This record gives sequence, C-alpha cells and structure tokens, in this order.
Amino acid sequence: MTTQTFGQIIDGVALSSQLRADVAQRIVALKARGVTPGLAVILVGEDPASAVYVRNKVKGCLDTGVHSVFEKYEATLTEADLLTRIAALNVDPSIHGILVQMPLPKHIDPLKVIEAISTAKDVDGFATLSAGELMTGQAGFRPCTPYGCMKLIESTGIDLRGKHAVVIGRSNTVGKPMAMLLLQANATVTVCHSATPDIGFHTRQADVVVAAVGKRNVLTADMVKPGAIVIDVGMNRNDEGKLCGDVDFAGVKAVASHITPVPGGVGPMTITMLLVNTLEAAERAAI
Ligand code: GUN
Repeated sequence: MTTQTFGQIIDGVALSSQLRADVAQRIVALKARGVTPGLAVILVGEDPASAVYVRNKVKGCLDTGVHSVFEKYEATLTEADLLTRIAALNVDPSIHGILVQMPLPKHIDPLKVIEAISTAKDVDGFATLSAGELMTGQAGFRPCTPYGCMKLIESTGIDLRGKHAVVIGRSNTVGKPMAMLLLQANATVTVCHSATPDIGFHTRQADVVVAAVGKRNVLTADMVKPGAIVIDVGMNRNDEGKLCGDVDFAGVKAVASHITPVPGGVGPMTITMLLVNTLEAAERAAI
C-alpha cells in the first residue's frame, strides 16, 4: 500500500535555479561554437508592471549568459515604426529571440506586432504559426508560462498519462496552450471558463488542476479531489495588498498532494522558460 502525502510545495524558485544552471551550461557549450544566444526585449510606454517584468527578463539573461538588447520606446511610438524595428531584428543574426512586452499602447495592434515576429524568433510562442505548431505537435516554441507549469508538474515525478487535468481559464497565452501541452502528455483534458456553470463539478474529478483566471479564490478546498496536483498561475493582490494567486492556498494545501505557492511557484518559471526558448532558438540557428 502506498501512503498519500498532502500539501507538498512545488518550489518554483528551486526548480528555476536548477533549469537556469542547465541553460547557463548549454550556453557555455554554444559559445564555444561561436554562437551567443541573443534576446531583444522591447518595451513601449510606461506600464509599471511591464517595467518590472522586463527588468527581470533582462536580469535573467545577464545571469545565464544570454546577450540581451533592451529597447525602450515612448508610448507615442507608431505601430509602423515598431513593425520596422521588428523587421530589422528578424534579420539580425545576433538576435535569436524577440519579445515585445504586452500590453502595448492602445493605438498599436498587438496581433499585428506578434505576427510580425519571425516564427524562428517567436520565443513567447504567441504567434498564430507557433500556436498551430503546438496544436499539431510540431517543434515550435511553447508559450513560457504553460511550458513552466508543465516543468513544475514533471518535477513531482507523477506521470500525466491517463490522468484527468482541468484547466480553469482559456486565454491564448496560458489556458489554451496549457490544455494542448497536457494533451500532448497524454492527459484527459477539460477546459473550464467564465461560462462554465459549475467549475467545482469538473475540478472535483481532476488529478491535476491548473488555475489561470486572474481572480482570487477561484479554487477552494471543497473543489479539489484529495491528492490532486494544483498549479496556480494567478497573480493577484489580497485586501492587505499582498501578492496571491487564484487558489485559496491555505485551504487547498491541506487537500492537494502538491501545490505551487504564489509568489515562488509559476512566476519564476515563466522567465526561465523564456531563457530556455531563447537558447533553443540559438541552438537551432547554429545547426
Ligand atoms: N506581458 C505579460 N506577460 C507577458 C509575456 O509572457 N510575454 C509578453 N511578451 N508580454 C507579457
């Protein structure tokens, strides 16, 4: 008989640092072949949260040996000028990944910008072609947040084959690609969203729950099957202004076998997977 354990924390900081050490090692090997992975990070405007994310992305590059080019533009930058800049980066051999931080100012169409990035350099994995590659099982770039969630699940050592996974949220950047990755790992996948009448009905049957809504307490203990794995993608603030996820962590921790905290779970993994994608873009270009 195996005994079930509850409330094991999946440490995204520790897993990130392991993966980043591996990235740094692979970069040393690539540099020995004369190639340094390069990431262009573009920020348009003054959104304070974006400024923090971008700073952390550039720092991640610095820490692992990725060459980063950070370009910051005024909020008045025209869409045409941004597209011209992306076209130049698409053909710059020192740049293997291009990331345009979202959201963009209202006068710039994000879809046009995302589609302008060369698929070979789409390290965010947001473009239609990358999404199509993911859906059809081809080796494109996986969006960083769901890719990081998969690594967190993998780190529990539990095989997803035949397991029931429930994703709450259907965004193009997290929910939908998350469902595709879980499917690729042979899970049976259910996607719940704002029009699902009783989310708990589905999550109570789930071996894995990924909460990616952007609202506090979307998942509470009564909605979780004992022994399930719970991955919390949310980044919210509670009434005291403290960072919290979509999951009622204290309650769910007592029921779940494994759970990611916020902060310190999915968050650090997103940037780590961006570094992994950038390295892979450079490795592919070096072949
Ligand atoms: N804004 C918030 N998260 C992301 C991300 O992962 N990539 C980009 N490009 N913009 C974001």
